[in-house]
Amino acid sequence: MAFDLEMIKAVYANMGTRIEAARSAVGRPLTLTEKILYAHLYGGTVSQAYERGVSYVDFAPDRVAMQDATAQMALLQFMQAGKPTAAVPSTVHCDHLIQAKEGADQDLAIANSENKEVYDFLASVSNKYGLGFWKPGAGIIHQVVLENYAFPGGMMIGTDSHTPNAGGLGMIAIGVGGADAVDVMAGMAWELKFPKVIGVKLTGKLSGWASAKDVILKVAGILTVKGGTGAIVEYFGEGAENLSATGKGTICNMGAEIGATTSVFSFDEKMATYLQGTGRAEVAELAAGVRQHLRADEEVYQNPENFYDQLIEIDLNTLEPYVNGPFTPDAAWPISEFAAAVREHGWPEKLEVGLIGSCTNSSYEDITRAASIAKQAADKGLTVQAEYTVTPGSELVRYTVERDGLLDTFAQMGGVVLANACGPCIGQWARHTDDPKRRNSIITSFNRNFAKRNDGNPNTHAFVASPEIVTAFAIAGDLTFNPLTDTLTTSTGEQVKLSEPEGIEMPPRGFAVEDAGYQQPAADGSGVSVMVSPESDRLQLLEPFKPWEGTDLLGLRLLIKAKGKCTTDHISMAGPWLKYRGHLDNISNNMLIGAINAFNEQPNAVKDALTQGNPYSAVPTVARNYKAQGIGSVVVGDENYGEGSSREHAAMEPRHLGVRAVLVKSFARIHETNLKKQGMLGLTFDNKADYDLVEEDDTIDILGLTDFQPGKPLQVRLHHADGDTDLITVNHTYNEGQIAWFKAGSALNLIRQMEAG
Ligand code: F3S
Repeated sequence: MAFDLEMIKAVYANMGTRIEAARSAVGRPLTLTEKILYAHLYGGTVSQAYERGVSYVDFAPDRVAMQDATAQMALLQFMQAGKPTAAVPSTVHCDHLIQAKEGADQDLAIANSENKEVYDFLASVSNKYGLGFWKPGAGIIHQVVLENYAFPGGMMIGTDSHTPNAGGLGMIAIGVGGADAVDVMAGMAWELKFPKVIGVKLTGKLSGWASAKDVILKVAGILTVKGGTGAIVEYFGEGAENLSATGKGTICNMGAEIGATTSVFSFDEKMATYLQGTGRAEVAELAAGVRQHLRADEEVYQNPENFYDQLIEIDLNTLEPYVNGPFTPDAAWPISEFAAAVREHGWPEKLEVGLIGSCTNSSYEDITRAASIAKQAADKGLTVQAEYTVTPGSELVRYTVERDGLLDTFAQMGGVVLANACGPCIGQWARHTDDPKRRNSIITSFNRNFAKRNDGNPNTHAFVASPEIVTAFAIAGDLTFNPLTDTLTTSTGEQVKLSEPEGIEMPPRGFAVEDAGYQQPAADGSGVSVMVSPESDRLQLLEPFKPWEGTDLLGLRLLIKAKGKCTTDHISMAGPWLKYRGHLDNISNNMLIGAINAFNEQPNAVKDALTQGNPYSAVPTVARNYKAQGIGSVVVGDENYGEGSSREHAAMEPRHLGVRAVLVKSFARIHETNLKKQGMLGLTFDNKADYDLVEEDDTIDILGLTDFQPGKPLQVRLHHADGDTDLITVNHTYNEGQIAWFKAGSALNLIRQMEAG
């Protein structure tokens, strides 16, 4: 479906030379991760070796994928770049905004009406700028990417944390924020700290109840939720070759749960089979032609301890099924120890709901394995003791498994099929419960199980396991059940045991679909108009920010001096505000409302210098007042200002409300870069103690801008209410290009100017 064969050919054509150059720059054999990364340097030339875990490097990913929640602001921004099409093949997937309630058809109809303006916008903007558009109901972003776009040795970014799912087809696929997607679509470099590489050697072969899911559930137990931070996890060994491509996808998907940048497998026959089965035989053939580039150098596999930052070995022959949870995905329990853990910790033993599917586990293989258990239940006269739902990952999978009678099998057991969308996985679940205060247990084949993730209820204990284990538990309705050893009682009182699941890797009659839900963009989108209603409170077209006026900035007002931790969540809170993420003016009403004012220790109460009487108001109100009077403002902050997610709203909102500079003791790097991209001044105190000189009634001048140069500090003059002044030195990290962004008013303004010639 519209995968870009020419792009893949170009990637493979350059790989050999680039890898060769990287090998000689690094001076040793290369891991697969390094091969793919060096083959995707921005500008294409390998001129030096980068230090893993240290060097910041500019990359040029091959693709971008966006889900509908994060795509809104990303695309509104991309429109500012003035480009006729995205610089790389890109897609939009409508999967996050569909709420699971009654079942697929009804839920989809409601989503289509409630989110109509968002879907219309995304469809029209995709049509105009050459982006592939996957309609609501087409499927979950990561499954659709795996089925259509992922390719061995490629590199992509996606605006969702489980983008690494594409590692199942040998792609370096990284979850990012919307601002990163804009950069890549606008043709800019994409920066990443060169990751460390963790090797996981898989030996043996899975059998019985153990599945690919159990590999990552075990790895999560070993590495914990932080153990993969800043690293790419590279799986290899004969055990890896025995896993289906979709099983590999499950493992890579859940690498997000250990904080890994991404995870990847080397190209093998299982990947070729999947590519062929999903209509991409040419890609399989091309990949086979460069096979040596799509795996680590042989020396790495012979002596892995010399080449990986950390090495883990797992024997699939002896791997047990795992159940992880509750409340964290790294609490890993082998099934043989789980019942005792449930009793010991007093977790609710009655299982209320079992949920299978999601982007993590809804392959044909997953569904057939789960259905083989469901069928046994039906044949043995067992009925499901818990609620049971199935979320197919895509319409391709749903249509195929329905054709093959598998959905009927679930229905016979009392299962409900939900829309091909995120649904309960992202908390879009109107769960039926008589008492939300009751401590209760659910089990899913999803990836995340933090408190409140699925149903918003802190009393829900969510566990994670493979779809077949979830199905067996749902039949038993009891968390202390071990399907490998225990029996169940039928309606006639007979004791029966479930036999091992049986899965089919690829559909014997092939995949089929009537309408995959894909909308091909117009060949020439210049005449297409983007649909945004001026009355909408969820979407608003952006106005370009004003360019620098060419002078020093004089007479700015202090908006807030924030004290202590000020993360992107303090700057732009999530929760109910996410509804407005496509409407900059509306979402700006959350700007800095979580930050603590250093002068009164209160959140969201700052002094408005232009107001008599009670001058304290909400931060956005004061900022709007200054802006209305044509006065710029300054935010002062403490250490590591802007840490947390890479949310671009945290930089756009201050810019929109007239903040000209953010002056802090130190920045979180990504936020600092985001400020630069929006044409703001991100400055740091040369002497951190100068933070104490800033007073509540100060007006502020920023001096030296007419000679703004890399490495040359600027000056800030503080005018205090008593007439005294302080002149302090402030530092910056702007390079030439970033100074040009400042002068143009934003990075996108500069691109638009260049585009216009
Ligand atoms: Fe959606 Fe859950 Fe995956 S939210 S993208 S199904 S992790």
